Amino acid sequence: MSMMSIRAATPKDRAAIRQVEEHAFGQQAEAGLVDALVAGGHAVVELVAVEEGQVVGHILFSRLHVTQADGRSFAAVALAPLAVEPSFHRTGIGGALVNEGHRRLRAAGEALSIVLGDPSYYGRFGYGRARAAGFDSEFQGEALQALTWGEAPAEGRLDDAAAFGSALAA
Ligand SMILES: CC(C)(COP(=O)(O)OP(=O)(O)OC[C@H]1O[C@@H](n2cnc3c(N)ncnc32)[C@H](O)[C@@H]1OP(=O)(O)O)[C@@H](O)C(=O)NCCC(=O)NCCS
Repeated sequence: MSMMSIRAATPKDRAAIRQVEEHAFGQQAEAGLVDALVAGGHAVVELVAVEEGQVVGHILFSRLHVTQADGRSFAAVALAPLAVEPSFHRTGIGGALVNEGHRRLRAAGEALSIVLGDPSYYGRFGYGRARAAGFDSEFQGEALQALTWGEAPAEGRLDDAAAFGSALAA
């Protein structure tokens, strides 16, 4: 029986989060991206999964704005990155992090989450391609998916989507 627990990330977790990101992706880009987004004050919900005192999973939802045709800006979130320590893959940690993140976002009144990832993985959490197809974005394509919990724009330009790119990690 797993004793895994999920909690909000704290400043003391930064080194452990870097390790999990580096191990999961096999490179440093995502770890650098996480540090840059958090240092820039862009984190909305950031969680860690802890197993026997060790951080074994991490998820970040950062701020992303949808600028609508009339100029109004809608505050959405970007899910990126999600990482689980390789030796703990397929034990449900990734799914638990996504679901707990969504629960907290909804409770905070967030209405739109956007992800750039494998549809066969994110589809199980409710992300859909159709909901994201109307956005104007350099990341537009099959991997761009969205999930809504309330009224949110289906069209507009995705701004501050640094979470999906490597600009900040370079
Ligand atoms: C993707 C990742 C976070 C999943 O974490 P996890 O804890 O193994 O996930 P869960 O145990 O909750 O779910 C595992 C399920 O997801 C599936 N899965 C994992 N990665 C997948 C992918 N890229 N595409 C499709 N399905 C995937 C597994 O096959 C498994 O399916 P099953 O439940 O039918 O057996 C983890 O594999 C990881 O850290 N990968 C490297 C980093 C990465 O690619 N992150 C996502 C992009 S931001």
